Amino acid sequence: MVKGLTLQAQEVMTRALALSHEQYHRAHGACCAGAGRGIRAMTSKTEADPSRRPFHPATRLVLGGRDPFANHGFVNPPVHHVSTVLYPTAEDFLARRSRYLYRRRGTPTSEALESALRELEGPECAGVALLPSGLAAISTALISVLDAGDHLLVTDSAYLPTRKFCDGMLKRYGIATTYYDPMVGAGIAALMQPNTRAVFVEAPGSLSFEIQDVPAIAAAAHAKGAVVLMDNTWASPLYFRAFEKGVDLSIQAATKYIGGHSDLMLGTVSANGRTWERLSDAVHLLGLCVGPDDIYLGLRGLRSMGVRLAQHQQSGLKVARWLEQRREIARVLHPALESCPGHALWQRDFSGASGLFSIVFKPIAAKAVHAFLDKLSLFGIGASWGGFESLAIPFDCASIRTATRWAPEGPTVRLHIGLEDVDDLIADLERGLAAMAA
Ligand SMILES: Cc1ncc(COP(=O)(O)O)c(C=O)c1O
Repeated sequence: MVKGLTLQAQEVMTRALALSHEQYHRAHGACCAGAGRGIRAMTSKTEADPSRRPFHPATRLVLGGRDPFANHGFVNPPVHHVSTVLYPTAEDFLARRSRYLYRRRGTPTSEALESALRELEGPECAGVALLPSGLAAISTALISVLDAGDHLLVTDSAYLPTRKFCDGMLKRYGIATTYYDPMVGAGIAALMQPNTRAVFVEAPGSLSFEIQDVPAIAAAAHAKGAVVLMDNTWASPLYFRAFEKGVDLSIQAATKYIGGHSDLMLGTVSANGRTWERLSDAVHLLGLCVGPDDIYLGLRGLRSMGVRLAQHQQSGLKVARWLEQRREIARVLHPALESCPGHALWQRDFSGASGLFSIVFKPIAAKAVHAFLDKLSLFGIGASWGGFESLAIPFDCASIRTATRWAPEGPTVRLHIGLEDVDDLIADLERGLAAMAA
């Protein structure tokens, strides 16, 4: 009994909600936001009934995690600002008889985003965890699969804070990391040790853009009983179907393309049946949860991620091809261009490209590259990417790498191509190159 409502009123309300809920699903076949299922056991209607899974990813982005008629018909899920969950009686409290237990263990708001992402990942996804940043998603996913005494293989092209986590905290807890050549492919088998429990891939590397042979690495890892974790932020589930390629834990810095507006820090880890239980335990034991407003921004970003990514891809390719023709540029590291290591793997395994890539200048002084960057007016100089705006940063992987040598022809700059008019961006780059020559 809900305090403040008569039994009769409650019954009428319950029946009305159940009816409209059912009508909505009959009409839309959409996934509902997890009534009574909690983070551990979400099952969407679409997944329960395969005949209701005909939708393309763009439609799933729009429908996922929404159940308007469970929420008075409002299109978007409500944002629950809560901590305590009340139980009607002492007996209910002791038996934990409640749809939700406590804010940290999930709310309708967190379930809505988890459910939407789960729909997007596809049927092999057993659950999704939300974390307060992309880095928190990486570290939590690693902790969830590793124990003291284990060995971990990490691509030499990994995001630098990922390396720092492995070389710092994991090392202190007795977990050894070996870095490997991102282009190793099936050769990863030779690096597996008896205690190798996990292989971490990032494709492409977010500075150097090597595309890895994920299926070959996964086959070799699985043959030795290890699990595969992937930082899939660059392509997202829209352009790389991680679970279909053998990944067990697929990580996204939702700060980037899911958020899409440079106003959010959020991470997600999608797990298959093999890894979900330990991931879910790690999240709960570490007491990790995300604020409701940030979750809502993630949900809101998700709705338009398909069209934004398509535009980032189109503009990014146009800029990359333009740069490829410039005499100042030695190479463009964009997975959709042949000059990028692993381009053939990108063609085989990916269905698209986002707006992040790098350029290698012909040998020139660092000062000239700074003149190029400082002249740009549409490209901000700053970390992160995936927002609506264009960015440019200088970088050098030479001091980071341990398994491979990073020695490009000249200085390197990473570009994020935003949603500005692409011809304006090209004109801006042209002014930068002129300043560089001067
Ligand atoms: C490839 C990649 N993974 C993970 C992260 C970490 O995401 P966050 O900044 O949300 O911690 C970043 C951030 O730049 C990144 O580029």
